[in-house]
Amino acid sequence: MKNKIIKSLSVILVFAMVLTTVNMMTAKVQAKQNKKIAILYFSGTGTTRGAARRIKNKTKGRMIEIKAADPYTDDDLDYGDSNSRVTKEHESASTPAESTVRPEISNLNAIKKAVKSADIVYIGYPIWWGEAPHIVYNLVENVNLSGKTVVPFCTSISSGVGDSSDNLKANAKISSQTKWLDGRNFYSIPSQKTVNKWINGLMD
Ligand SMILES: Cc1cc2nc3c(=O)[nH]c(=O)nc-3n(C[C@H](O)[C@H](O)[C@H](O)COP(=O)(O)O)c2cc1C
Repeated sequence: MKNKIIKSLSVILVFAMVLTTVNMMTAKVQAKQNKKIAILYFSGTGTTRGAARRIKNKTKGRMIEIKAADPYTDDDLDYGDSNSRVTKEHESASTPAESTVRPEISNLNAIKKAVKSADIVYIGYPIWWGEAPHIVYNLVENVNLSGKTVVPFCTSISSGVGDSSDNLKANAKISSQTKWLDGRNFYSIPSQKTVNKWINGLMD
């Protein structure tokens, strides 16, 4: 009799353990499936692209470049030249937010479509004169980020995120449901380990 009870209890216990494991696995898969991720980035010389790649490796999200309809050449990016394209953009107003310069994005519709079905939107950019480039303003002003979790990231030589993320947010198409996380500057292309640790911390 005693043996029978022990046997029955063991069967119930094993069954409960299997059920718990299956439930946990299902929850994990669902959590993964339910979070659609878009990784948008603008990059002049490839550093921010490198950071975006690491984010893609970790999240398996969809990586989409913010493409200038008129791509930036090396001469365009020469910020030591008072006549270069970036200098003219910079000098068009005291801040990019106040400027009317909004370089056209050739793949804006594809970006809008990808963002529409995403839950989490990473937005990456290089720091230009302490701010996000004007083209990234074009992005946040025209792509609906209502209800999304927005994760800004950037690269630079030495400047921090500064107000770049807050200033983008102030101009962005967002709603009260939008969760705009703190921006992260990687300075150069980060190691995979650095990015993994950062993203694990974000999802806690
Ligand atoms: C127009 C322009 C302005 C820049 N301004 C800054 C700056 O204010 N502070 C800084 O640390 N780096 C500045 N940089 C350097 C870039 O932020 C840095 O090289 C960045 O990693 C480039 O990223 P990308 O390769 O994705 O374009 C500037 C670069 C350019 C082209």
